[in-house]
Amino acid sequence: MIKYTTFRKAKIRYSDEGNGRAIVLLHGFPENLEVWEEFSAKLAKGFRVIAIDLPGLGESENIGYVHTMELMAQCVHAVMQQLKLRRYVIVGHSMGGYVGMAFAELFPENLRGLCLFHSSAFADSDEKKLDRDKASEVAKKHRVQFLKTFAANLFADPKDPNIKKLQQLTAHTHARGIVASLQGMKLRPSREIVLKFAPYTVLFILGKKDKIIDWEKMMPQTEIPPHKEVLLLEDAAHMGFYEAPKETLRAVRHFAHACFKEKSQ
Ligand code: MLT
Repeated sequence: MIKYTTFRKAKIRYSDEGNGRAIVLLHGFPENLEVWEEFSAKLAKGFRVIAIDLPGLGESENIGYVHTMELMAQCVHAVMQQLKLRRYVIVGHSMGGYVGMAFAELFPENLRGLCLFHSSAFADSDEKKLDRDKASEVAKKHRVQFLKTFAANLFADPKDPNIKKLQQLTAHTHARGIVASLQGMKLRPSREIVLKFAPYTVLFILGKKDKIIDWEKMMPQTEIPPHKEVLLLEDAAHMGFYEAPKETLRAVRHFAHACFKEKSQ
C-alpha cells in the first residue's frame, strides 16, 4: 500500500506491505521505491516491507539544494517513527546503503541488521567528487539523456530488458532532486568506523561486473564488521535484485531471519 507523510514540510512517499518483522528498502540514485516492486512483493510474504522514496526522488519532494546522507537517514527515521516501528533491518542499495550507513551512525538502537547492496562505507575519492560536479552540470542541462545513460551503465548485459524498465521508472526524476543527491553523496564521510563497532550483522552483496562499486576494493571492507556475511555475484553488475533475483532474495531473507533471531535469544 502506498502512503504519504511529511518530513521537514516535504511530502514523502513510501510503501508498506506484508506483516511481521520489518525490513526497510532504500533505493539507489537516481531511482525510487518502484525499483523494488518485485523484490519487495516477494519479501513481503514473510516480512513487513517498507520502501521509501528518498527526498527529491520518486514522488518525495525536495528539502533543499543538497540532500546529505544524514538528512535522508533522518527522513527514514521519521517514516519509521510514524509507523511506530522501533527495530528493523535496513537494506540499502548503493546510495541507499550510504544512507543506511548514516542511519547506523545516528540511530544504532533501531538497527537489527544492515545490508549494503552494491554499496560501501567509503567516502568518495577526490576524482569521484569532481565527477559528481560534472554529473550535476550534465543533469541540469541534459536531464533526459543523463537518466538514460545512467541506467544503461548499471547492468552487466547491455541488452538486459530491465534497462528500459529502469529508464522508464526514473524518467520523471527532476534535475533538482538529481543534483541534491549527487551533492549529498559527494559530502559523505567514510563510515568504516561505524562498521567496526556494528553490534548487528552486516551483509555485503557485491557484483563482479559492477562499474560503480568495485568488488575487489570492497573485499578488505567486508572484513571490518565483527559479524558479517558476503554474497559475491559472478554475473551481476550494480543491479543484483534484477540481475540475480533469486539468489539475492534468498540471501536477504536468510539474513533478515538471522538478524531478528539473534536479538530475540
Ligand atoms: C547509486 O547507484 O546509488 C549511485 O550510482 C552510487 C554512486 O554513484 O556512488
